Amino acid sequence: MEKVISLCKRRGLIFQSSEIYGGLSNTWDYGPFGVELKNNLKRAWWKSSVYERYDCFGMDSAILMHPKVWEASGHVKNFFDLKSDCLSCRKRFKTENLGDKTKCPECSGKLTESRPFNLMFKTHQGPVEDTENELFLRPETAQGMFVNFANILDSRHPKLPFGLAQIGKSFRNEITPGNFTFRTREFEQMEIEYFVNPSAAQEAYEEWVKTRYQWYIGLGISKDNLRLRVHGKEELAHYALACTDIEYKFPFGWSELEGIANRSDFDLKQHGEHSGKDLRYFDDAAKERFYPYIIEPSAGADRALLAFLVDAYCEEKVKDGTRTVLKLNKELAPVKAAVFPLLKNRPEIVELAKKIAKELKRSIVATYDDTGAIGKLYRRQDEVGTLYCVTVDVQSLEDKQVTVRDRDTMQQERVSLDRLKEYIIDKLGDNTLSI
Ligand code: GAP
Repeated sequence: MEKVISLCKRRGLIFQSSEIYGGLSNTWDYGPFGVELKNNLKRAWWKSSVYERYDCFGMDSAILMHPKVWEASGHVKNFFDLKSDCLSCRKRFKTENLGDKTKCPECSGKLTESRPFNLMFKTHQGPVEDTENELFLRPETAQGMFVNFANILDSRHPKLPFGLAQIGKSFRNEITPGNFTFRTREFEQMEIEYFVNPSAAQEAYEEWVKTRYQWYIGLGISKDNLRLRVHGKEELAHYALACTDIEYKFPFGWSELEGIANRSDFDLKQHGEHSGKDLRYFDDAAKERFYPYIIEPSAGADRALLAFLVDAYCEEKVKDGTRTVLKLNKELAPVKAAVFPLLKNRPEIVELAKKIAKELKRSIVATYDDTGAIGKLYRRQDEVGTLYCVTVDVQSLEDKQVTVRDRDTMQQERVSLDRLKEYIIDKLGDNTLSI
């Protein structure tokens, strides 16, 4: 983990939030390469969850919602962790992490009794800060899709089964955040709410577990580092009939990347009852009205990104030492091509290299760099997973060819300028959505 965290800072993938003020703990900012990687990841999810399916629609609901949503959803009553506070050092601990300890694990101080602590962040709407204007920052994106169920039926007229997909920020006042971006208080979720006839729920649940597992493998996660874990009855959330986690073998142990739950008809029933609106689905063929079940694949964008980073991190022996490479899949790699002038004191070479970069940028994510010697530039690009490095040299001015180096094989090839773009796009293959 330390190596990955240090690479993230060194190469502008992820920075600590508000670092110049000493940092806000457990909050992270994505830098120039990090945001490209995250966008690629979210785009890959959107592509497979919306564009490549005929039965799922995208949406983007607001973070702030009517406070009754959280009563209906059960979050006001059930969304809490048990915590104990140290009376001496004032540190707060999750009761489940304390085991049989009766004293503070940090300073041996006296601990308070274990008390429930609601994980939702509170805020106020408008200028008056009283309880009537109290709102919550959403702790999951899911509810924004449930409360729009009737709008979708009325505007898109879908037949069951169909799904809604959205990506967005969620907030939880976690007692014990940590492990870099793994558990934070502000994070991004990628959630699908798939509405099905209750009789088809089990089959859809099993299908989604397979589909989502395959998504990670398809984007390059090693099979050895991914596993499924079925929840025991005692650990199921208050709304779930069944749940399977997709877990990744992080350096700190096997941990959840995504949960796929069968949420039964809990959500639509609750929102139907609390809002007074009929949220049942009318089945034309059977001439009956019922609450669909919901199958929910719920993933974290930041967690997935961390897993892809850890999985892609690699140190290789090369003839002049060791190189660090992020062997990210072509679709995820933040930068597809980097262009360098071999000699930066030759204006014609610099000019040509900049012209090539500008031309490539019209079609793919490309970058120009002349801030070091060529070996150093290669190493830097390897560290962020750039797929192809294009070098312009003296010879290029005459033969109109450049050297293209492949990230993984480090093989170099002379490619003529007039087919450079086609050459790279060809190598990228089917990954055109995120180039
Ligand atoms: N709507 C269901 C739901 O929110 P969850 O298991 O609480 O279920 C789903 O969250 C996913 O969201 C998790 O598998 C994880 O990837 C991500 N997630 C949850 N809490 C997180 C946190 N504090 N930091 C980063 N990611 C988190």
